[in-house]
Amino acid sequence: MEQNVHQAQMLQKLILAMSSSTSAALAMVITIATVIYGGLHLILHLTQDAREPPPVPALVPFIEPMVDLSRKKSRYYTELCNTANDILNTNVNGDEGFWGYSVTHYKAIHPPLFPGPGLDAMNRVMARKITSSLESIQSSEVIRLFDFIKREITLATTDSVYGDQNPFRDPTIVEAFWEFQEGVMGLLMGFPQSFVRESFKAREFMTKRFVKYFNDGGHEKGSALIKARYEHSIEHKIPLEDIARFETAGAIAILTNTSPACFWLVYHLYSSPGALEDCRKELGQILSATSHEKREGAFDKTITLDLTQVKTSCPILLSSLQEVLRLHSVGISTRLVMEDHVLDGKYLLKKGGTVMIPAPVQHQDAAIWGENVHSFDHRRFLPNEKRSNPVAFRGFGGGTTLCPGRHFASTEIFAFAALLILRFDMQPSGGTWKELTTNKASLWEVTPRPDEDVLVNLVSRPGFDATLKWEILVTDSDKMMPLSAEDVDALRQPN
Ligand code: HEM
Repeated sequence: MEQNVHQAQMLQKLILAMSSSTSAALAMVITIATVIYGGLHLILHLTQDAREPPPVPALVPFIEPMVDLSRKKSRYYTELCNTANDILNTNVNGDEGFWGYSVTHYKAIHPPLFPGPGLDAMNRVMARKITSSLESIQSSEVIRLFDFIKREITLATTDSVYGDQNPFRDPTIVEAFWEFQEGVMGLLMGFPQSFVRESFKAREFMTKRFVKYFNDGGHEKGSALIKARYEHSIEHKIPLEDIARFETAGAIAILTNTSPACFWLVYHLYSSPGALEDCRKELGQILSATSHEKREGAFDKTITLDLTQVKTSCPILLSSLQEVLRLHSVGISTRLVMEDHVLDGKYLLKKGGTVMIPAPVQHQDAAIWGENVHSFDHRRFLPNEKRSNPVAFRGFGGGTTLCPGRHFASTEIFAFAALLILRFDMQPSGGTWKELTTNKASLWEVTPRPDEDVLVNLVSRPGFDATLKWEILVTDSDKMMPLSAEDVDALRQPN
């Protein structure tokens, strides 16, 4: 017995000694790594003459290029000599005038996304897809709400942009896209490939598929947006493989925010009975019904929802979407200071500095939005409500990088949410709607996904049985919605 106690004490001491020696070793490793990292950057800084060609970009100078060279052999040099990066990095902020790839990109993609024929064509494809996706739901079905919305919005959006040869019709590309997206932060920060291996691999897989898409002329049968993006890259002499690689990033702008925004709108409408009723009433007033004789005496009834009317005559639905973006948007607009500027006569913003404008700071300010700032109020943005300064709402950013996709995204969300709430009742499987968190969102995301999905039961509404046909009508329209302060200003201008 005594011997056992002694052995246990010895073992305890040994474990304590080992754990303290493990922490000491860990501290030592961290210190050495920090010293080496800092030292290598210092050596590079001290030995690099400003007149020399720029050093090889690397997180850990000297070592990382050696490792990459031994792994990739001569491919390393061709990757380094990356023409597209040079083109992309030339006059990137427009200091030297209005030219260069980045500066003119916005202007190139703006017209196809602005209300008019290009956007109408995209909306028509989107509306067909959404109608058939909601038609495929049985009269009663249990679904994972976010998964369902993400899948349907991804297909509808990408078909609208890429056309019949849409690479996203292949489920492996959809999977690769979300894998790529997980590591975007690391790729943006130039982490070594080993840190972002899966994301990097997924991006390259998508790139190959996009090369095939462009080689097969898929873009020629796609939207005005994809044509404009392709032509803009060709004008700037971007090699095809890099056009394809850019498209993987383009897909991020197109896809990442629309599904979560649509999810939050659906979630808030169904979990706030007053909001649901108001939106249904508003939409009910613009529905039209027609009957077609199927065979003698038997009729098919079609219910039509006109999207132009949704945009112009459904202020409560519009207000609800803006409120969802106000509550859930975590985007941070980032700007480079081009000239010294004194802000509000108080703070000097120095030329070359970076200004970050996190949307939640404005969106969650009780002085702007009132005491109920943290709750969902679907009427908050109605024109007749006490209005706050429109600049306080930055759901779609603002200024030079104001989201050009806002009209398309909003119309798509309206089409999906409108058809869903008109046709179905929805209950969470557990009986009550849970509060959802968004702690897993990355810093670069604008509209975060919920941390966990919600299981819901969809049931056809009484009176809207499966024999009814539904149709979303997209008439030619240059009508704009007031989605940003800039839109509010533009709508105030006399024609
Ligand atoms: C609800 C969905 C969406 C939301 C909430 C959203 C939000 C935003 C925000 C906040 C910005 C500005 C970031 C900044 O100020 O720096 C932005 C930029 C951008 N958005 Fe969207 N977006 C959405 C959908 C879309 C769609 C569907 C497209 C394309 C079809 C798109 C294309 C872009 C592009 C290209 C930019 C960058 C503009 C530039 O830097 O010149 N967005 N978006």
